[in-house]
Amino acid sequence: MKTNNYVFPKGFLWGGATAATQCEGAWDKDGKGASVLDHCTNGDREHPRKVTDSIDPEQHFYPSHKGCMQYDRFEEDIELFAEMGFKTYRLSINWSRIFPNGDDEKPNQAGLDYYRRLFEKCRSHNIEPTVTMTHYDIPWNICVKYGGWANREVIDLFLRYAETILTEYKGLVTRWLTHNEINFGTISYGELITSGILPKHRQIVMHDADATAKDINKRFQALHHEFVASAKVVQLAHEIDSNNEVGCMMCGFAFYPLSCKPGDVAAAQRDMEIWNYYCMDVMCKGKYPYWANRYWKENDINLSIPEEDYRVLENGTVDFISFSYYRTDCSTDELEKHEGSTDFGMQNPLLEATEWGWTIDPQGLRWLLNEYYARYEKPLMIVENGIGAYETMEEDGAIHDTHRIEYMREHFKAMAQAIEDGVDLIGYACWSAIDIVSAGTGEFKKRYGLIYVDADDLGNGTYDRYKKDSFFWYKKVIACNGEKLD
Ligand code: BG6
Repeated sequence: MKTNNYVFPKGFLWGGATAATQCEGAWDKDGKGASVLDHCTNGDREHPRKVTDSIDPEQHFYPSHKGCMQYDRFEEDIELFAEMGFKTYRLSINWSRIFPNGDDEKPNQAGLDYYRRLFEKCRSHNIEPTVTMTHYDIPWNICVKYGGWANREVIDLFLRYAETILTEYKGLVTRWLTHNEINFGTISYGELITSGILPKHRQIVMHDADATAKDINKRFQALHHEFVASAKVVQLAHEIDSNNEVGCMMCGFAFYPLSCKPGDVAAAQRDMEIWNYYCMDVMCKGKYPYWANRYWKENDINLSIPEEDYRVLENGTVDFISFSYYRTDCSTDELEKHEGSTDFGMQNPLLEATEWGWTIDPQGLRWLLNEYYARYEKPLMIVENGIGAYETMEEDGAIHDTHRIEYMREHFKAMAQAIEDGVDLIGYACWSAIDIVSAGTGEFKKRYGLIYVDADDLGNGTYDRYKKDSFFWYKKVIACNGEKLD
């Protein structure tokens, strides 16, 4: 008999997430260097973010320069997270706050001190930090001087950074993610933000129609270096503290065939391969997928892979898988014949979408959790999931985000079903814990938080925090460990 009670494992890690370049602000304070996102202007759905070679605040607004001002207000934020009952706060360390140029000999002490205070504050409220080592914050200098991750030298620069933070925060942090949404590195979107390769047209676009074989080769070479670095970090993290657990962080892409036409089914399989499994196989199984040679041949990709790298990848598989989940898309082998394509294929005509065109598909989460678990049998953690929406504050200070409550409730049901299926799901961090800047468009009005921040797209406002209705709802859910979702 079905009841309305849901069962989540004891100790389930309920929480929320942010990323440094989207929430901290203080982009040049206390010795911090510029990161790639600090060179990106604001934009919106129709206007891609521009990447400027120099930073010119007279001409442009750079949203990461203010974020939601968490650098100056982190204590208040963590107290609010504690009030909701967070068990974990997933955040990222800003690489350029620790090594301002990426290749500095010594770390920036003020940066190290900041995160120590932040982690201690979390611990004082029994909130375990889940820490991403790099979330779109590659030091700008690495991008211009080295050409980003396409340059093998960056592996050692990242290892120096990783060793520094693993040592510094030993005991304070034990759950680490290496590269945020590493799989975006397979397309133009990730070139700058995940791989530090300066885009030709100085814009952040999903797909670059002019990409040459050379550009594509560079992208995949960069990814290879990121894989090697991540595998080395896994080993290093275990050596430094046997309590450390290291996960990969994927953008969870789910593709359905647009129809039952065999060509569409095959297209969905290919999309699942390149968008998810290319990276996940390397990081979870320690080897490139069996179809990688076919893919490289088809796309003129010739990678330079020294023999020793294969051993590094084999010995550095991750302890768990973390991923983001926002939407599903449809695949077809005849995209050109259809109208209504999205950045990732076709929009599912059977699903509703957000104001930014992201389909809402809770059932897809159960499906994807099962897909990942069947393939890797490693613990899974959802480290981003949420809805971006326009929201306003009422006269009395209330923010009625019923759409968010509905969205989360349905996704929690899907999680509970996957757990019942037998999936080892260890935690959930909503995106985002608090309103922050959108990474894709640079807008502030695309709000994801459970906490409203009084700010607009151009950095105006008091930046004061207000609890949305979802804040109170999530608090109740956490208190009963997800048993009641009403
Ligand atoms: C993920 C990123 O892709 O999606 C986040 O890891 C990002 O950094 C989130 O903010 C939502 O995307 P957007 O473009 O709406 O901010």
